[in-house]
Amino acid sequence: MIRVAILGSTGSIGRSALEVIARHPDRFRVVALAANRSAEELGAQVQRFSPERAVLCHDGVSLPTSGGGTAWSSGRSALLDVAEAPDVDVVVNALVGAVGLEPTLRALLAGHRLALANKESLVAGGRLVTDAAKRGGGEIVPIDSEHSAILQCLAGYPASSVQRVVLTASGGPFRGRSRDELWRVGPEEALRHPTWDMGAKITIDSSTLANKALEVIEAHYLYGLGYDQIDAVVHPQSVIHSFVEFVDGSVLAQLGFPTMELPILYALSHPERVVDATLQTYDPVRASPLTFEPIDHAAFPLFGLGAEAGRRGGRAPVVYNAGNEVAVQAFLEGRIRFPEMADVVNEAMEQVGSGDVRSVEDVLSADADARRVAAVSVQRLAAAVGAGS
Ligand SMILES: NC(=O)c1ccc[n+]([C@@H]2O[C@H](COP(=O)([O-])OP(=O)(O)OC[C@H]3O[C@@H](n4cnc5c(N)ncnc54)[C@H](OP(=O)(O)O)[C@@H]3O)[C@@H](O)[C@H]2O)c1
Repeated sequence: MIRVAILGSTGSIGRSALEVIARHPDRFRVVALAANRSAEELGAQVQRFSPERAVLCHDGVSLPTSGGGTAWSSGRSALLDVAEAPDVDVVVNALVGAVGLEPTLRALLAGHRLALANKESLVAGGRLVTDAAKRGGGEIVPIDSEHSAILQCLAGYPASSVQRVVLTASGGPFRGRSRDELWRVGPEEALRHPTWDMGAKITIDSSTLANKALEVIEAHYLYGLGYDQIDAVVHPQSVIHSFVEFVDGSVLAQLGFPTMELPILYALSHPERVVDATLQTYDPVRASPLTFEPIDHAAFPLFGLGAEAGRRGGRAPVVYNAGNEVAVQAFLEGRIRFPEMADVVNEAMEQVGSGDVRSVEDVLSADADARRVAAVSVQRLAAAVGAGS
């Protein structure tokens, strides 16, 4: 029986992970659940899965008074305790944003398997995360469908046999639109993703292609690949989840209709493959045609900015990620317009100094600097929008 803790259980990935686990009660048992402030939903999950522990991170939320045999606690330290608890085998990190970094480090240092959806922790923490895995003996198994695809294609092949990987991107709801047209799109339209049903932040990241840049950095750290070995291509059907090209020119790909339940199940059971009859059978005729396009860098500059941040390394990916989190939030609140998200991130990258990242404190300091600069940019841009410019 594999004992699973889910951080971010009330989100899109967290809920999907619970559905997967509910279908395999003979293999997986939920021992801890954590969310930020969705007390009611977490309470319903506790009723259904009877974990030993439930955590609400936000201190201002009152805890339910009854929970059967479940011990409730609140605050960030309770979240970190769950991530490193000795009675856990797999920690699913389905938190959103750089807040996921410390739980990622704690889980790896404790020697757990980390089923990682929270790509921001790898982008911000980079080498700290891979070092924590080495030091603690933990293992990172990605939940992101692209990185799960790479893992599945790589099985058995040494890194030296890989020429490059090609990540696929759906292109989001604005594929084919020009930069000029993107001034007129609002959050509601950006939240209507054509192929994936996800949380708000990643859906916006998908519409700007910032998500693909985060995934380039994620692939760099997960698979030890150089940035010149990681490409991305737009594939609107989201059926091929990534390609791996080997040094002899042979190319493997992993395919399937878009669902996060499959990579979640694989992250929990890896390297074993588990029968799950509810997952949709692949049908090549129904999946046809499969098409590919290059990324439009002029319309979606956040992709290039992110890849550049990855190449620069040090503080740059931390700043890119934090600036992007601020920009996405401001766009969702209607304070800035779609193309201005890239301006906010660009300014943060230009104004926040470069430097090495050797500790969590270094990450937190770069993150805080970037958020400060980005908040000022947002304020200026929002004032301009308010003034009708
Ligand atoms: N959704 C997908 O299909 C998908 C696919 C690939 C990768 N990912 C990655 O998976 C991660 C989660 O994405 P999602 O779409 O599932 O996000 P989501 O739906 O927004 O869910 C986020 C979860 O994190 C919790 N949370 C948010 N802020 C927190 C904080 N400060 N402290 C503690 N908990 C906090 C939320 O709790 P409350 O409900 O209480 O706010 C919620 O449970 C992201 O890194 C995303 O890039 C997602």
